[in-house]
This record gives sequence, structure tokens and C-alpha cells, in this order.
Amino acid sequence: MKYKLKVNGQTRTVEAAEDMPLLWALRDGLDLKGTKFGCGIAQCGACTVLVDGVARRSCITPVSSVGNGNITTIEGLSRDGSHPLQRAWEELDVPQCGYCQAGQIMSAAALLAKTPNPTDDDIDGAMAGNICRCATYLRIRRAIHRATELGKATASAATGSGK
Ligand code: FES
Ligand code: FES
Repeated sequence: MKYKLKVNGQTRTVEAAEDMPLLWALRDGLDLKGTKFGCGIAQCGACTVLVDGVARRSCITPVSSVGNGNITTIEGLSRDGSHPLQRAWEELDVPQCGYCQAGQIMSAAALLAKTPNPTDDDIDGAMAGNICRCATYLRIRRAIHRATELGKATASAATGSGK
């Protein structure tokens, strides 16, 4: 079957069986390789994308279930790496091997969309399903706090309210 998916602001057509996980439609059908396969059973978070701003495990999400939902992958977070989370990740040098990090950033993006000033507990709760075998958890937490600062600075620069 052919599915029209709204991905990163564009409508893309992908040929897929209805039970194909969204992960494979993105990676193999649309060549968006930033989203990673880890466990395939919703236990690691490596495959996390946003659907209408909510974090979803694309490894267990059938492509046929997404409908008109707006899908955002790591490639769509910003065009040029300027999203506060990406800047904070770079500034704090968060990744080690890097494999889990796209999923970590997408879960963090869902958290900040809902909770713009998260506490450590908010972060730990929201990120609990994202496993990092390199144990970068403390840097991830620091980077999420840093992203909130960068986001505020960007917003106040845009409105002039930071003067
Ligand atoms: S690959 Fe989807 S949660 Fe692990
Ligand atoms: S950076 Fe290696 S698994 Fe997270």
C-alpha cells in the first residue's frame, strides 16, 4: 500500500505493508536514517520520533496508524542544528558512541514542549524509557536544563525582552 506521511513539514509517499513499523518506513522508505533501531520492542527509546509533538516509539508504531499525524524526526528538529537541544547537546558534548542520542533528543523535545522548565524529577521521569549504554544520563540531564536557558535566550532576543 501507499501511505502519505507528513514528515518534517513535507508530505512524503511511502510504499509499505500496513503493519510495517514506522521506523522502517522512515529509514528504508524515506531514507531518514537518523532514527535508530535498538530493541524493536519499545524498551530502549532509540527509535523515538514525535507524532503531533508526542514521543512515540516508531519500532512498534504501524505505519498505517499514523494517519495525518505530523511526524518529526531528528532531521526535522531544525534545518541547521540550531534547535536549543541540539546546541546544548553540542555545547556539553553529550554523546559518547552516539547511537541512542537521536532518540534521547526527541524524547527531550517532547518533554520541553509540554514542560518548558523541567525539574530534575521531570527530566528523569520523561527520559526513563531512553536507555544509554554509555551512561551519558547526567550530561543529558544537564543539557536539557541548558536547552531551556538557550531557548529562553533565543525567545527574549527575538522579542527584545531580554534587554
Ligand atoms: S528500537 Fe524502539 S524502543 Fe528500542
Ligand atoms: S551514547 Fe552510546 S548508547 Fe548512548
